[in-house]
Amino acid sequence: MAEPSRPPVARALNRPDREFDLQLRPGRFSDFVGQSRVRERLELMVEAARGRGDVLDHILLCGPPGLGKTTLAYILGEAMGVNVRASSGPVIDKPGDLAGLLTNLERGDILFIDEIHRMQKTVEEYLYSAMEDFVIDIMLDQGPHARSVRLNLQRFTLVGATTRSGLLTAPLRTRFGMTARLDYYGEDELAEILARSARILNVDLEPGGASEIARRARGTPRIANNLLRWVRDYAQVRAGNRITGEVADAALAMLNVDRRGLDEMDKRLLETLVRRFGGGPVGLNSLAVAVGEEPGTIEEVYEPYLIQEGYLQRTPQGRMATALGYEALGLPSPPRQGTLL
Ligand SMILES: Nc1ncnc2c1ncn2[C@@H]1O[C@H](COP(=O)(O)OP(=O)(O)OP(=O)(O)O)[C@@H](O)[C@H]1O
Ligand SMILES: [Mg+2]
Repeated sequence: MAEPSRPPVARALNRPDREFDLQLRPGRFSDFVGQSRVRERLELMVEAARGRGDVLDHILLCGPPGLGKTTLAYILGEAMGVNVRASSGPVIDKPGDLAGLLTNLERGDILFIDEIHRMQKTVEEYLYSAMEDFVIDIMLDQGPHARSVRLNLQRFTLVGATTRSGLLTAPLRTRFGMTARLDYYGEDELAEILARSARILNVDLEPGGASEIARRARGTPRIANNLLRWVRDYAQVRAGNRITGEVADAALAMLNVDRRGLDEMDKRLLETLVRRFGGGPVGLNSLAVAVGEEPGTIEEVYEPYLIQEGYLQRTPQGRMATALGYEALGLPSPPRQGTLL
């Protein structure tokens, strides 16, 4: 059988594939691996609300793509035994759209708004009274005939998800009863997620294979699952359906995925930092212009992983590449780096 001629590039690996995501998405807290502090807080909130027969407080979920925000929104719905209605910031472009969503909610239902930072300000303002007082004042007609009508809503729970919490306005942010920030997953956690996914996909994944995949997944469950999908195909064609460490390694080598799990943007950032700015320190804005990305996206989406893994440092003078960062680019560390790395 011919092998796919154009393997997906690293960045594509964190693109959501609805059907595949759905198939592997844990539906209950007990299947949700890692993020133990967030999970514990959410479970406690659910238990308390259920115990009182109350509606769950509004919750904001923040974190880089593919870490489980959407998954948690649905788990919350399941745990509360309520419906989850999903929409996303850019889709709700008129106050009327929001009113339509809100008036269709039953008591206790969850309205999940993905990418909530991308909601228009004119729409967002209507959300304030809805979240706080469960009413929404809608303007009917325009000009001299304009009048406002107050709609009473059922008590509901807003679950907002964002990769860019820095873009949320203060009035919106303060209306959430809880903000949960998701972190990158450790290799062991990713291996556990992979083991579960392998059971669902009915593939024979050995622990060595799981850890090879986990190591390259950039701390991200969605990337881990997408890599598993590729390795599964490889194993089916070339390795009798068994994913050992060696098989996973060979399969992933074909994808050109960095052994450390760094993606193209990670590498571009490091490379720019090292080659254009002599390893730093350089200000976020200069770095952003040089790589052609928004400063906020670099700060909230790309940098956290590089910092967590020790490739990059935030210092008061700016961003600096660490010795590990140089090593990742295959370069010797700079001779005069003062800090202990
Ligand atoms: N803690 C977890 N345990 C097991 N699987 C997980 C976990 N978190 C995420 N996943 C898997 O990763 C996939 C992506 O997660 P999800 O769609 O919830 O990410 P997200 O944070 O909403 O990403 P985006 O910002 O791109 O919308 C899910 O389909 C699920 O299979
Ligand atoms: Mg999502």
